[in-house]
Amino acid sequence: MTKILGICGSPNKENSTTLSSLRKTLDVCAREGFDTEIIELSRYSFGGCIDCGACKKKLTCSQKDDFKTHLIPKLSDENVSGIVFASPVYFGGITGQMKTFIDRAVIFRRNGFLFANKVAGALTVGRSRNGGQELATLDIVKAALIHGMVIVPDAAPTSHFGANLWSGHPDGIDGDTIGLDTAVNLGVNMARHARK
Ligand SMILES: Cc1cc2nc3c(=O)[nH]c(=O)nc-3n(C[C@H](O)[C@H](O)[C@H](O)COP(=O)(O)O)c2cc1C
Repeated sequence: MTKILGICGSPNKENSTTLSSLRKTLDVCAREGFDTEIIELSRYSFGGCIDCGACKKKLTCSQKDDFKTHLIPKLSDENVSGIVFASPVYFGGITGQMKTFIDRAVIFRRNGFLFANKVAGALTVGRSRNGGQELATLDIVKAALIHGMVIVPDAAPTSHFGANLWSGHPDGIDGDTIGLDTAVNLGVNMARHARK
């Protein structure tokens, strides 16, 4: 298992601060020898889980959309050893796009816990300095636990809850050097634990 995926839950196709932060994390994983790929949810069209139950029987979804066509194959790739879930903070939690993704991902739990024991990391970006980055992190951690994933923090010396960034810094997200350190250190731990 040699691949680390990043899921970006920002609706912004251009200039997403979450996407640029996620790249910092995955750049570290790539330097550590992992294949990396970022899935930008804004580039795919899919709706919420409709609880039809089709995926209780096999690895298929009744909704014929991009989740079924593109995302199920990418996410059921057995080479994936880790996933970084990255979301802007919306009202103190993850975005609707990320929540929709998480709900649709129930298919992987129902078909042999395909995410179990993979490494999970959380990355969140808020415009307010204390705008709920850690609360949005909890949304991600809860979902990862339900899948049986192994959640890792950002590595020392920052080592708290993953990567938490502040896009409202007067110099923009690149001015948030403390937050950027957490993004880099999350990459360090993703690679370290995925290697195990
Ligand atoms: C609907 C909405 C709700 C938001 N709620 C919060 C919030 O609760 N806390 C916060 O710090 N920022 C909040 N923001 C700001 C975004 O988190 C911030 O601009 C972030 O950098 C956007 O990420 P992106 O550039 O990757 O899209 C909100 C933005 C929108 C559009």
